[in-house]
Amino acid sequence: MISVSGQVYNDTNGTLLQTLELNSVAPTSNCKSGFCGACRIK
Ligand code: FES
Repeated sequence: MISVSGQVYNDTNGTLLQTLELNSVAPTSNCKSGFCGACRIK
């Protein structure tokens, strides 16, 4: 389960970034592999 700004997403079959992208909540991304840091959010 992922919660972003009070919205809960239960589709966690992929990476956190993949789940957010599937729900149109994706941050900026580049490598999609955890190396570049482009998708880092707080
Ligand atoms: S897109 Fe997330 S670390 Fe590169």
